[in-house]
Amino acid sequence: MSGDLGPAGPAGGVRLQKVLARAGLGSRRVADELVSAGRVKVNGQVADPGRRVDPEIDRVEVDGVPVAVRPGLVHYLLNKPAGVVSTVSDPEGRPTVVSLVPAEPRVHPVGRLDADTEGLILLTNDGELTNRLTHPRYGVDKEYLAHVDGGALRPHQLRALRDGVVLDDGTTAPARVSQPSPGVLRITIHEGRNRQVRRMCSAVGHPVLRLVRVRIGPLRDPDLGPGEWRPLRVAELHALQAAATATAGDPVTTTAGDPEPVIPGDPGTLGTGGGPDRALR
Ligand code: URA
Repeated sequence: MSGDLGPAGPAGGVRLQKVLARAGLGSRRVADELVSAGRVKVNGQVADPGRRVDPEIDRVEVDGVPVAVRPGLVHYLLNKPAGVVSTVSDPEGRPTVVSLVPAEPRVHPVGRLDADTEGLILLTNDGELTNRLTHPRYGVDKEYLAHVDGGALRPHQLRALRDGVVLDDGTTAPARVSQPSPGVLRITIHEGRNRQVRRMCSAVGHPVLRLVRVRIGPLRDPDLGPGEWRPLRVAELHALQAAATATAGDPVTTTAGDPEPVIPGDPGTLGTGGGPDRALR
């Protein structure tokens, strides 16, 4: 539309197709097709093929899903070991998740894992994605493996976890819960309350001995060892953006191939997604 010229103006900025290709949407030809098909919006309006954008300012969406077009954005997936805090700094001097990834550009963790919880956490300098992922309306589901005290849970205890248990800050929302082996629970929740999984398990009489996050929305990585990180692949970033665009209350989703056999202890042995790209820098 000729009226949708944003800050980049008619001649300034970068051709939209180039920006899309750079963001990993495919070749320029594919990007051309997306634009010609009317699937690309800039600042909320369907973009013309000749559209130019300022990647720093303009908001680009494909099929309603925001595309990270700003240069300099980084997104890391880290397998947090126990004992590391998920903050930018720690007054007690404990190692932080930020100290495990490159210092520049500066990144922050998206959400929290307890210091004693292990597993996947996202670090980024992408404020918009962070807001979406942490906003209750859009928050993606997260999957945990919990090794609990007291042996196998009985069916009524599993049912209570699934239906919702009463905690001091209210009843938990329905969760997906299975027991792949006695005393090992696979729990998928959508809420992000403080120490939620630990409190849920304690509420049914089985305190957590070890807790590992093995999935964040569409992201898994069975090959990422404790303390290791890697950049998100373009397809993963898009899948995450799409998941963070869906409205909360949509059914809890899983990645293909779930569930898989449990080998306690290592998130790297607990998934099927992810693949071998460990491009550690
Ligand atoms: N639930 C917990 O109890 N702890 C975490 O770190 C994450 C979810």
